[in-house]
Formats: sequence, C-alpha cells, structure tokens
Amino acid sequence: MEISGSKGIFVGGSSGMCRASAKQFASKGGIVAILDLASSNGAEVAKALNGKFYPCDVTNYALMDETITQAVGDMGGLHVVVNTAGGGSGAVGGKAQRTVGKDGSRHPTDIFAKVLELNIVASFNVNTIAGQFMANNEPNEDGERGVMINTSSIAAFEGQVGQVAYSAAKGGISAMTLTMARDLGNLGIRCMTIAPSLFDTGITAGIPEAGANQLTKDAAFPRRMGKPDEFATMAMAIVECPMMNGSTVRVDAGQRFAPR
Ligand SMILES: NC(=O)c1ccc[n+]([C@@H]2O[C@H](COP(=O)([O-])OP(=O)(O)OC[C@H]3O[C@@H](n4cnc5c(N)ncnc54)[C@H](O)[C@@H]3O)[C@@H](O)[C@H]2O)c1
Repeated sequence: MEISGSKGIFVGGSSGMCRASAKQFASKGGIVAILDLASSNGAEVAKALNGKFYPCDVTNYALMDETITQAVGDMGGLHVVVNTAGGGSGAVGGKAQRTVGKDGSRHPTDIFAKVLELNIVASFNVNTIAGQFMANNEPNEDGERGVMINTSSIAAFEGQVGQVAYSAAKGGISAMTLTMARDLGNLGIRCMTIAPSLFDTGITAGIPEAGANQLTKDAAFPRRMGKPDEFATMAMAIVECPMMNGSTVRVDAGQRFAPR
C-alpha cells in the first residue's frame, strides 16, 4: 500500500517504536493519529507530525471504539494501524514471577489474565474496530484496503524464566496473526506482527547498560539494543509490500533469548 495520502492510527504512538513508526509514516506523506495514555506526551508528538492526539487506554475496550471512531472521522478514513501498546506483568501491577516459585508461591492468575488483556485482547479489539473502517475503503488497484501491524516479542518463542504471562500474551498475538489475515483476506486487509528483541525505548529505559549488554550478548549481529527507527523501517516495509501477510517477523539481530 502506498503510504503517501494514507491515514494511520498509531496506538502507543507517544513513545518508542510506535512513535518512530508514526514519524516515518508522516515523513512519507501519511496522515497520523496518535493514540496513547492521557498521561503521555502524545499531544506534543502529534503536533510535531501535523497529526492529532487521542488519549485512550487500550484496556478500556468500549472507549476504544469511541476514540478510534473519532480519530477516523477526523482523518476522513483509515488504512493503517500500528499497535505497540502492551507490556508484561510490571505494566499491570505484578512482577516477574515463576509459574511456581522455589518457595512454592504461585504466579497470581489475575496478573496473568491482565497481561493477556493488555496485549492479546486489546490488540484484537483495536483490530476489529479498525477493520470495520478499513472494510469501507475503496480498494486500490491490487484490491487492498488496509494493513494492521501488531507487536509481539521474541519472548513469544523463547520466554525467559519469570516471563510466563508475557510469553503467553505475545504468543497469542503471533498466533492470531495468520487467522486474522485469513479472516480479512476477502476484504483486502492484511495483518502482520513484528517480534522485536530488546529495543531502546521507554519500556526498557530503566534497564542498566550492563543488563542490556547481558540481554543482547547472544545476538548474531549487531550485539546491541535495537533502535526505534529499525522497528519503524520494518513497519513501513510491511505497509508498502503487499506480499507481507499473516506472519510474525522477528526483528532481533539473530538473537535467541537464553532461559535467563
Ligand atoms: N522495547 C523492547 O525491548 C520490546 C521488545 C519486545 C516487545 N516490546 C513490546 O513493544 C511494546 C512497547 O513499545 P516500546 O518498546 O516502544 O515502549 P514505549 O514505552 O516507548 O512505548 C509504548 C507506548 O504505549 C503506551 N501504552 C502503554 N500502555 C497503554 C495503554 N494501556 N493504553 C494506551 N497506551 C498505552 C505507553 O504510554 C507508551 O507511549 C510492548 O507491546 C512491548 O511488549 C518491546
């Protein structure tokens, strides 16, 4: 799909990989809406990209309907959605924890469920709302109406000790990608997922350099954290290449997480 003139919503777009994606999209002539928490600096980010900010919380499913409807109405359509809002146990009031700890303590089920809600259910919800709008688009000459990009993690495939909820949640996002692409194929809407390794963003800002070096030491090349622009470059390639559909692309420098 050609980016110039396309309209995109960037969920989690105030920071990190989604912000970089919105920036590259705008620089290629796309029109952007930034969706993010009210506490984020979304207004500033959107202004710099000639777009508009829509405060939201992806776990408030009903309100996401209103928010996306508003954004699509303001832009006059929707062709692309990039969704990075998500996270692990820490984002929902929990902590890294084994399924059953050495001391016999159980991983709280409510935290597990909340991580699934923040990642799988919220991404699913955004995609269903976005898909309804995309279905109304006039198809391009290739029959294409829209592109959805979700964010998984290499932890979906090599979850480390203590990451059971996060791995399950990201694994779910990867698992629904092909089914969603098949569901949406008749409508000319593609669905892809990006699985990054460790990237230098807001979510990882607290990781000390030694910790980051440890977590990237097994990469093939380059042995460093990824840059938000490197995620964005992949996201833009997905938008522009119609044959990218129904799969998870690892953007990981050949990294495979060790058990810990
Ligand atoms: N950075 C990494 O190393 C890495 C690696 C693999 C996967 N991921 C995934 O990438 C995503 C995080 O993106 P990032 O690394 O660019 O981090 P980031 O913190 O820079 O950006 C994430 C954005 O999402 C927003 N957000 C969080 N919860 C939200 C909610 N409930 N509703 C609306 N917006 C919300 C945040 O405010 C933030 O602006 C997560 O899904 C994470 O699991 C990150």
